[in-house]
Amino acid sequence: MTVLKLNDGNRIPALGLGIWQIPADQTGRIVSLAIGMGYGLIDGAAIYGNEEGLGHGLRDAGVARDQLFVTTKIWNDRQGHDETLRAFDESVARLGTDPDLLLIHWPCPAKDLYLDTWRAMIRLREEGRVKSIGVSNFMGHHLERLIGETGVTPVLNQIELHPGFQQTELRALHDRLGIVTQCWTPLGKGQSFEAAPVQAVAARTGKTPAQVILRWHVQLGCSVIPRSTNAGRLAENLAVCDFSLTDEDMAAMATLDAGARVGPDPLHFG
Ligand SMILES: NC(=O)c1ccc[n+]([C@@H]2O[C@H](COP(=O)([O-])OP(=O)(O)OC[C@H]3O[C@@H](n4cnc5c(N)ncnc54)[C@H](OP(=O)(O)O)[C@@H]3O)[C@@H](O)[C@H]2O)c1
Repeated sequence: MTVLKLNDGNRIPALGLGIWQIPADQTGRIVSLAIGMGYGLIDGAAIYGNEEGLGHGLRDAGVARDQLFVTTKIWNDRQGHDETLRAFDESVARLGTDPDLLLIHWPCPAKDLYLDTWRAMIRLREEGRVKSIGVSNFMGHHLERLIGETGVTPVLNQIELHPGFQQTELRALHDRLGIVTQCWTPLGKGQSFEAAPVQAVAARTGKTPAQVILRWHVQLGCSVIPRSTNAGRLAENLAVCDFSLTDEDMAAMATLDAGARVGPDPLHFG
C-alpha cells in the first residue's frame, strides 16, 4: 500500500478503514478482520461511539501497535482548550492506546473555538501524547486563519471528496500548504458507479466501480478511508494497487465533478 509523508515527518497509509456507523458491538471484530487483511490505517472518532471496539480490534489483531495508524477526532461539543484536553483523555481511555492522529472533527465557525482547540492539540503533540495533529472539514479560510494565528500547519485535512464533489481548489491549497488531503465518503454513496468513465476503466481492468474510484483517489495523491462491514468488500477495497488509471482516465473522471455534496456544509454545521 502507498504511504504518504506528513509535514511533521510521520507517515500514513494512503488507504484505510473508516468506522463511522459500524455498530459498537461489531467494531472490534471488523477492525481486527481488516487488520488481518492488511489494513494499516483505521479512521475513528469519539462521536462514532465505537472507540472501545476499535481498541479491542487493535489488540486482538495480533499486529504490533507501531505498525498501525489510528485516528480519532474531537467532537464539536468538546471544542475549547481545556475541554479538548479532557475529551482527548476520554478517547485514550476508551481506545486503550494513544491515537497516532488527532483531528478537529468540524470547524464549527459559529462556536469560534477551533483556535483554542488547536492550541490544546499543539500542547498534546508537544507533550508526546499524540504524534500528529490535523483537521477535518476545514475550508480554505479556516486553514489560513488557523495557520496564521498559531504558526502550526495541520498535517492533514479530512474532507468530503468523491467523483461528484472533487474539491479541486481545496486540494490545490492543501498542496501549496503541505497538507495531505484525506477523503471521506469516498464512494459518494455509489452515485458515480454507473458513470461512463468509471465503467470504462472497470471493463478494461476487470475491477469493480468501487475499486476504480478508490484507485482514482490514491492517484490524486489523497488518503482514502472507505468503510465496509462486509468481508468481501473489505478485501475488494484494499485491492487497488495492481492496476492504474491512465492520464486519459483521470481526465475523464474529472468531468464527473458536479460540485455536489452528500454531507453537511462546514460553513453552517455544528
Ligand atoms: N470527518 C467527517 O466529517 C466524516 C464524515 C463522514 C465519514 N467520515 C469517515 O469516512 C469514512 C468513509 O465514509 P462513509 O462511511 O460515509 O462512506 P463510504 O466509505 O464512501 O461508503 C460506505 C458505504 O459503501 C458501501 N461499500 C463499501 N465498500 C463497497 C464496495 N466495494 N462496493 C459497494 N459498496 C461498498 C458500504 O456498505 P457495506 O458495509 O455493506 O459494504 C457502506 O454502505 C467513514 O467511515 C468515516 O470514518 C468522516
